[in-house]
Amino acid sequence: MTDHYAVIGNPIAHSKSPQIHTAFKQQTGEDIEYTTRICAPLDGFETEVRKFQEAGGKGLNVTVPFKHEAWNIVRSQGDARNAGAVNTIKFVDGQMLGYNTDGIGLVHDIRDNLRFAIKGKQVLLLGAGGAAHGVLEPLLQELPARVVIANRTLEKAQQLRAQFQTINGIPIDSVTASSYDGFQGERFDLVINATSAGLTGNMPPLPNDLFADGALAYEMVYGKTTPFMQFANAHGAFKVVDGLGMLVEQAAESFFIWRKVRPQTAPVIEMLRRSV
Ligand code: ATR
Repeated sequence: MTDHYAVIGNPIAHSKSPQIHTAFKQQTGEDIEYTTRICAPLDGFETEVRKFQEAGGKGLNVTVPFKHEAWNIVRSQGDARNAGAVNTIKFVDGQMLGYNTDGIGLVHDIRDNLRFAIKGKQVLLLGAGGAAHGVLEPLLQELPARVVIANRTLEKAQQLRAQFQTINGIPIDSVTASSYDGFQGERFDLVINATSAGLTGNMPPLPNDLFADGALAYEMVYGKTTPFMQFANAHGAFKVVDGLGMLVEQAAESFFIWRKVRPQTAPVIEMLRRSV
């Protein structure tokens, strides 16, 4: 019997998840259908999730603005526990298991697709909202030399930093929280824009001499050249990428959680690059 999956968010019409998972289905031969986009009312997320579960659905991807709410209603697994955000739900025996595959998707794209080793690097993470929460733990697991979390609202960066006191039981002292004027004169090997500023054509205020030699500038927004990407190109980043690879990699990780089959991501990234 065909297993049904869907993506839920608000707004949701733009979501590429159905296209990505349908490509995975064709590639792997898994008997699934993933064509539905559920636009949940802002006060009706849980109701819509339960409706889909009761109709026999096997899993959901969760997107903006419901990732934190999803975390509140599921049994969190793995990376999702500390992240406080869930982007993948698996329905098993009447239970809702919640996962966060955003961070592992980001790390796979940076490490495996872009062949950039995070280990030992100076990393600047811009933003302290849902997107930054989702990726911090998998980033730290790659053992960067240092991570600065910078945010417009300093308290949110400090709160995020405080959530990650240890990794694999080892105390972390290489992570600091900062405002945007707190790292003048420092240079970073990897700068990740996890703010939503690019969606509205803005970017955080950054110093011009931010990028170290060989630096990678990673924009989590995909499908357009954001002001952060333009800035990075103009100020010496060695490579500048958008978040399309992360999008496909997080989807592949969700597919693996649901189906125990790992799809190939490269052909799907290529297909989407041609269509965006
Ligand atoms: P998301 O789930 O996409 O991370 P969010 O939780 O609303 O969304 O967080 C948005 C992030 O982008 C925050 O870090 C926000 O900074 P504040 O916490 O100070 O609000 C950041 N952000 C949004 N617009 C920004 C802008 N124009 N300049 C700098 N940071 C911005």
